[in-house]
Amino acid sequence: MKQSEHTDGKQSPEDFEIQQKIKEFGSIPQHIAIIMDGNGRWAQKKGNIRLHGHKAGVESVRDVTESCAQLGVKYLTLYAFSTENWNRPSAEVNGLMKLLVQALRDEADRLIRNNIRLVTIGQIERLPKKCQIQLQEVKELTESKERMQLCLALSYSGRWDITEAVKHIAEDVAAGKVLSEEINDHLISSYLSTAQIPDPDLIIRTSGEFRISNFLLWQLAYSELYITQTYWPDFRRDELYEAITSFQKRDRRFGKVKNGHNKSLASTVIDQIRS
Ligand code: FPP
Repeated sequence: MKQSEHTDGKQSPEDFEIQQKIKEFGSIPQHIAIIMDGNGRWAQKKGNIRLHGHKAGVESVRDVTESCAQLGVKYLTLYAFSTENWNRPSAEVNGLMKLLVQALRDEADRLIRNNIRLVTIGQIERLPKKCQIQLQEVKELTESKERMQLCLALSYSGRWDITEAVKHIAEDVAAGKVLSEEINDHLISSYLSTAQIPDPDLIIRTSGEFRISNFLLWQLAYSELYITQTYWPDFRRDELYEAITSFQKRDRRFGKVKNGHNKSLASTVIDQIRS
């Protein structure tokens, strides 16, 4: 399949057929979160500067976003810039911010055409003004879109998210709006930046690292992990399909036993027949 067929919004019959098979095979994760890693190494392996890898990474963002929407994924969260990424050399940080502005300008129409809403989580006020303005513009332009929500985690960290939630809960307890005995899982989730979004069903990490890297620490409690050696700029829809079919084969029990029974399927059937 030619890459152009992936990215121009026109879907090839072959790709459509693959997606239909995946949908028949099992349920599609409602929320996929991705740690997009390996841009720098991808570029360096090719003898290029790291920014070249980030530029190529935008192509993967486009292809994965579009194919998630086509498959019926409802929420896609991308770890685009972590709180820790501010410690990178300023040339790389500035380059990434310019790339983000450019990508938002280039992709706004495609998001609208594909009926995708853009939202963000993180300390957006730390981003350069130009980024903030561009983000705001695309958020407003796509506000009514409801096929899928694309959430960019920018200047985000899981510990920051939890810390902010704790501060706000403490304020509300002090103001008498919340009783300390009312604090539970659900209440904490409702104070996080992802309050409006269900927890991820599937978390994908590229470039072979086995870490969560301060991403959605609270929200990933029961997410299925898919780790691939592929660097992010090489991660395209065919590997997304691999990740989803791998997810579909998992037995998600959320700490419980299947269907509330502490029995295998075979022993359940034997019991039913003998009773
Ligand atoms: C990690 O690779 C990637 C990032 C820190 C930035 C991701 C940004 C993009 C894909 C481009 C812009 C994004 C959007 C949403 C338009 P790395 O640099 O840490 O790679 P390395 O581990 O090989 O050094």
